[in-house]
Amino acid sequence: MALLLPLLVVVLVLLAVLAAASTLRYGTWRKKGVPHLTPVPLFGNSMLAAFQREPIFGMLDRVYRHFPGQPYVGLYAGPSPVLLVKSLDAVKRITIKDFHLFPNHKLSPEPHYDKMFSKFLFCMMDDEWKDMRVRVSPAFSSGRLKAMFPSIRDKGEQLVECIRGNVGPDGVLSTNGPCTRYGVDVIASCAFGIEAWSMRTKEPSPYMNAVSESFRFEFAEGLSTFALLFVPALYHALKVPLLKEWRSTLLKDLLRESSQLREREPPASRDIFDNLLSLKRSGDVSQHLFEAQVMTMQVAGSETTAKTIMMALWMLARHPECQDKLRAELRAAQTADGGNITYETLHDLKYLDMVFKETLRLWPVMPWLDRVATQDYVLPDSDIKIEKGTVVMVPVYSIHRDPEHYADPDKFDPERWAPENADNINKLAYLPFGSGPRTCIGSRFADMNIKSALLSTILNFRVSPCAETPKSEAELRVCPRSFLVTVLNDMPLHFQPL
Ligand code: HEM
Repeated sequence: MALLLPLLVVVLVLLAVLAAASTLRYGTWRKKGVPHLTPVPLFGNSMLAAFQREPIFGMLDRVYRHFPGQPYVGLYAGPSPVLLVKSLDAVKRITIKDFHLFPNHKLSPEPHYDKMFSKFLFCMMDDEWKDMRVRVSPAFSSGRLKAMFPSIRDKGEQLVECIRGNVGPDGVLSTNGPCTRYGVDVIASCAFGIEAWSMRTKEPSPYMNAVSESFRFEFAEGLSTFALLFVPALYHALKVPLLKEWRSTLLKDLLRESSQLREREPPASRDIFDNLLSLKRSGDVSQHLFEAQVMTMQVAGSETTAKTIMMALWMLARHPECQDKLRAELRAAQTADGGNITYETLHDLKYLDMVFKETLRLWPVMPWLDRVATQDYVLPDSDIKIEKGTVVMVPVYSIHRDPEHYADPDKFDPERWAPENADNINKLAYLPFGSGPRTCIGSRFADMNIKSALLSTILNFRVSPCAETPKSEAELRVCPRSFLVTVLNDMPLHFQPL
């Protein structure tokens, strides 16, 4: 008891010092004349995000909406001044024309704490990133995508069987399960070199468990992400890795096995894994870099794929007129192709493309882009200078929902992507796969496997809401920890076989 009072005083003094230190840069945006919200000590404008009461994209959206018509908005995340870019011309300059000044993500962990994650292509920096990007790009060439198409179609059929096998007697099924299994299996097959068979087993496969375990976001990982982005001192104090380093040896063992199998029996058609393996074989990349790139694809590809399919099915269930139109297009294509839709036809399906685009407009799984200024920089069409090291955020989710760029922006309306309307949309107002040289390397692969899953599902089932289906966005639960838009609802839907 005698010690309690002095201890309390020490804690209070420490807090007061920290609070005072946190405000040192709170004059930044005022001095530069950039509109911003008033910050509070320690937290700036990010109290809810720091306590994981709102996701980072929610924080950005709140600030974005507060300043309509402004090209730039400032915010304080913890002690750090962060620039929110609203002007599409500035987005273009920063991500494309002046890319050499903004080549890196801030979301790039220290190799010291995150040995594997720091070597993900997404996290690599400068020349190391450039070199790896050039080496990995051929994995996503048109020839390779076409070669992977039969395997992707096969997974689409497995998805149909998975839905059929798991749907309840009332025709209801939680869509999240099959979509997650599909996402895992597609990437496992094309990028990890194994058949995970998650869609064929009742229980999640060991591979699926190991993948989800390795990148599970609890409170500590959420805080570490926030700190990595905005509070470097806290990040270094926490030392929490975002990716659990091969927590089980299972993934490592599987990868060794699949590598050996590929060496012994090269596949008839080449896939992403084949490209990565050949980089290792030729000595161009080390074993560690090889493992990191394989994991990059698994982590970057499976959840993004799964959630996009889930949200598309939710939208189609609630818009039966769109679903009917899509099914009519798919049936016509199926008949014209003699039963099996070809790779070429998949890319010609206009309405499927419109549904795909509209889903990703409303639900861009990666809801913001981050860049770091590598030197002092004068913002386009202004005399505002930002300092080297400033974190610049492009609020993709908010841009996609801005009435300045889209009429009735919260409405699911695939028609806005019809050829006669799409030209009215500024290309920079649509950024689900990012922008510039750092854009998603897997975008065309994602396009193919998401469309393939949708076509198999919609040709085989009429999807409709059931009593438990969320009726509106207000009923969705979005994970406040993840840096992705992770909808936590299981998304039960009614599946009527056709
Ligand atoms: C709906 C699906 C997907 C979405 C919405 C998506 C979105 C994104 C976004 C926004 C970025 C950052 C771009 C930027 O900063 O400008 C990115 C990067 C990346 N994505 Fe995707 N992605 C998807 C699927 C995939 C798939 C299937 C793969 C691989 C199989 C993949 C692999 C990657 C990689 C490796 C990067 C880092 C690229 C680099 O820094 O050079 N993504 N993705």
